[in-house]
Amino acid sequence: MTGEWFTASAPGKFVILGEHAVVYGKPAVVVAVDRRITCSVRRSRKNTLNGEHIDFNKQPHFRYLTRDTHYGMDYVTNSQIPPGSGMGSSAALSAALALALSNERGGYMTERELVDEAYGAELYAQGSGSPMDASACVHGKGVAINIPDAGSKELWTISRGDRTWRVTDVDVPDMTFVIGNTGIKAPTGPQVDKVRRYTEKSHFAMDVVDEIGSVTLEGYDALHRNDVETLGRLMTHDHKLLSILGVSCNELNKLVRAALPYSYGAKLTGSGGGGCMVALTDEPEKVCEAISARGGTPYVVQTGVEGARMELQPSNDPLLEIPMDYPRM
Ligand code: MEV
Repeated sequence: MTGEWFTASAPGKFVILGEHAVVYGKPAVVVAVDRRITCSVRRSRKNTLNGEHIDFNKQPHFRYLTRDTHYGMDYVTNSQIPPGSGMGSSAALSAALALALSNERGGYMTERELVDEAYGAELYAQGSGSPMDASACVHGKGVAINIPDAGSKELWTISRGDRTWRVTDVDVPDMTFVIGNTGIKAPTGPQVDKVRRYTEKSHFAMDVVDEIGSVTLEGYDALHRNDVETLGRLMTHDHKLLSILGVSCNELNKLVRAALPYSYGAKLTGSGGGGCMVALTDEPEKVCEAISARGGTPYVVQTGVEGARMELQPSNDPLLEIPMDYPRM
């Protein structure tokens, strides 16, 4: 006997300022984007992912989120977010899967409960990190972390060890951002570990983390004032600081340099080591051309998008809808 399908989706994200330093409790600003992952689940006699037997040892997010599921399930995922690109594919998968599973069980989850589940899955899969990505993919729109007197709506506070992340909602003004994907897959865990090792052995690295925190606070104010010039300058400065921490790479630097003549500022976004950069610009076509000319894949992103949500039941069987060239998770 197979059950009915339950489908949920969650958006990807990009970090305007503050990645890596946020792991140490510093401020960050992150926005959800108009690229989503969709996850359908139904009870089944077997355990399958996109039509094939699921190996839970290779799918830690599924393993964690189904830890209380004691029956077979079919899972179908469909993603517009390139994996390992710094655009939150793993947090979005966790949020969509957790929401679909809770609905399948007839449950209801608050955003806060969903963030706890998604962040739990992230930690299980990659071992360390902050709840920033999970918060952005669950809540959508814009999210700020540890901004004093943010003055905007407080969403939740999450603590782990001696770190605390106070998460607030941010109104993102109408600005144009272009993402450039290097096409190099770079999972988050190793990049976070690299920075941790550096900060453990060097006070200088910890000073850089502190400076990223200060730049992010200034950038948050600029965002509020709609001051694209200051925000762009701070984004480029942040890129240099992240490069000093060792999380940029030649391909990212190349795309940042290509975008800068037509941008207020540009930087890597996410954990780095590959993945994506982002530029703040009034000339998106020129930035897209410059990124393509350097071998990157550009996307002009829309912000202000909804967070994790249930989707209408698919009219067709999602298992029959999987394209032949489906990108595997
Ligand atoms: C990855 O999108 C952001 C990092 O700061 C890691 C994290 O916050 O968990 C690099």
